[in-house]
Amino acid sequence: MTERPRPNESRRRVVALAVTGSIAAYKAVEVARLLVKAGHRVLPLMTASATRFVGPVTLSGICGEPVATDMWDPTYPGELHVALADRADVVAIVSATADVLARLAHGRADDLVAATALCAKGPVLVAPAMHPRMWSHPATRANLAELARQGRVSVVGPVVGPVASGDVGMGRMAEPVEIARAIEELLAGAGDLSGRRVVVTAGPTFEPIDPVRFLGNRSSGRMGFALAARARARGADVVLVAGPVALPTPAGVERRDVETAEQMRAALADALGPDLGGADAVVMAAAVADFRPASASGTKIKKDASSAPPAIALAQNPDLIAEIASKRSGPKPVLVAFALETGDDASVLGYARRKLEQKRVDLVVANAAHESLGHADNRVALVDAAGASPFVAATKDALADRILDRLVTLLG
Ligand code: CTP
Repeated sequence: MTERPRPNESRRRVVALAVTGSIAAYKAVEVARLLVKAGHRVLPLMTASATRFVGPVTLSGICGEPVATDMWDPTYPGELHVALADRADVVAIVSATADVLARLAHGRADDLVAATALCAKGPVLVAPAMHPRMWSHPATRANLAELARQGRVSVVGPVVGPVASGDVGMGRMAEPVEIARAIEELLAGAGDLSGRRVVVTAGPTFEPIDPVRFLGNRSSGRMGFALAARARARGADVVLVAGPVALPTPAGVERRDVETAEQMRAALADALGPDLGGADAVVMAAAVADFRPASASGTKIKKDASSAPPAIALAQNPDLIAEIASKRSGPKPVLVAFALETGDDASVLGYARRKLEQKRVDLVVANAAHESLGHADNRVALVDAAGASPFVAATKDALADRILDRLVTLLG
């Protein structure tokens, strides 16, 4: 017989692993097993409803720790939620129901799990699992937006797939290995982008026709903001050059607001410096307008019933990412462009490959316009010199992590 190795207690990292009541709760056991196997101490907590899905004995057996379920546990001296939060380097809620997301968003502390998360001294991670209709409900969307605004909770998944009812959609919990990996990243303290400077652009540009009108596009900026937030969470120093969007600035990110492609160009030049040494990577998620009115009227253009509507002559905007690529003399900064296309997957990939070559960038994120524009989710394929990955559908946050995983590899 070989005994389980006991790591040096003082160097063991501690995860408070909280389970709330969804069918996916059984997968929390596997997350616990992976964390214990990696040498971490896992303190399990369960809501009362979670105990209906998974037996506490299973979790305590895997973790080698008692399961805490009750804030008022009489055997415990003092405040259990404070003691757990004090000990935990990371509080992870796996699986997280729509209900616990709502309670976290509003700072509720009405059970042991919510109170421990509210009291956490370090990062909090949630792995949501719910029926797709609950995930897409405006209330859940609003709660997630509020958590993103507060910038204290990382969200892993969910993914598209079959859920317990047999329905298929966005709401299936991320796989235990993905969740354990995200927890490991948080435990590492310094993420895998620590020490890196990343410039992200996001949103549309508005090109003025006159003082009140502009040419624009439907980009919401969500993909770029998710990239900025996740890059920051993974340790990067992030400058976010944002076109006109109504999104809150992710915590810890330096934001520069611009309106036009010309202004975005200037903001990029400023962030990168003359030798492009100001960034290790540039991620161009912005939908930069290819054309602008050749000359914007200084005064509002008036309609004149007696004559034809005015024609708007267009001028081409500079291709900002291609311009940066042409100035680059070495591998840095790593350049990531997006290809937002209409058409089927094969034609989207074809355009993406062409952009990779024409713009001389390192990675192109290919996505279809009807699945991306204005949606919280997206479906993308990553195209680089080595080829194209399969298309993956997920939340923009989850996709941001996949894109950043590839960026980390490209940064070497
Ligand atoms: N981009 C840029 N500067 C521009 C236009 C686009 O840097 N003036 C970047 C975008 O941020 C995105 C990528 O290039 O990363 C998109 O490529 P683009 O050539 O704009 O795609 P389309 O306009 O869709 O291309 P096409 O005209 O070939 O359809």
